[in-house]
Amino acid sequence: MLHPTWAHSLNGTRRRNHVVDINTTFCMLCTLTTSIEKSIQQEKDNTDTTKTDRRQSTYKVNPLILNRWSPRSMTGEELDEDTIMSLFEAARWAPSSFNNQPWRFIYAKRNTLHWDKLFNLLADPNKVWTKDAALLVVVVSRKNFEYNEKYSITHQYDAGAAWENLALEASSRGLVAHGMQGFDYEKARVDLEIPDNFDVMAMIAIGKKGARDNLPQQLQEREYPNDRKPLADIVMEGQFKK
Ligand SMILES: Cc1cc2nc3c(=O)[nH]c(=O)nc-3n(C[C@H](O)[C@H](O)[C@H](O)COP(=O)(O)O)c2cc1C
Repeated sequence: MLHPTWAHSLNGTRRRNHVVDINTTFCMLCTLTTSIEKSIQQEKDNTDTTKTDRRQSTYKVNPLILNRWSPRSMTGEELDEDTIMSLFEAARWAPSSFNNQPWRFIYAKRNTLHWDKLFNLLADPNKVWTKDAALLVVVVSRKNFEYNEKYSITHQYDAGAAWENLALEASSRGLVAHGMQGFDYEKARVDLEIPDNFDVMAMIAIGKKGARDNLPQQLQEREYPNDRKPLADIVMEGQFKK
């Protein structure tokens, strides 16, 4: 039998060792958890597809691509000048044939004198939800190259690239950028005094994203990211596949 003092001190050591053991085990567990988390993350990074809430790519792409979609619900709040100009800045850096940059953007901010002029171009179904946008934009594109005034067969393609840049920048900032062809193209030309050497391409409604239930019931049902045709239907090796 141990002397009570020894027993006491041995118990103390055991208790201390016990504490040390728990700490060591805890640390080991932490390290294990961290390395499991790392390998899960690595596995995720190495997967061949990208997935968001509603969209799944067949092959891996930057999540920025899958995350962009065209919501309709917006809050009705204004956007500050810096944000607005950043969106056009993104569009400005799009590629174009001969770097001709045929795109032009005519915009109206909500609560300004210009708003009604652009809003009144829209078809009624688009007015229903764009009334809560912060910004309306008409995209026009110069038909001829500036350097020789010859027709540019890609000018619309180039303007489309600029719109997508804008849309991706908006989406990355959590903003809505929704393209529209539902408006009066001729009225736009007249009301906005667009010269004949420019084609009217499309309109864009931009704003802060709103709640789904701000929309009428019919539009609420469509307020989700949609899907795409399979790659096999759109990609052809060597020649056109009918
Ligand atoms: C040039 C263009 C015109 C469009 N016109 C309209 C329109 O007039 N009204 C509308 O509600 N959505 C319109 N859309 C939105 C498309 O329906 C939408 O982009 C398409 O269904 C793909 O969905 P996502 O943008 O959410 O990926 C238009 C989109 C583009 C790019």
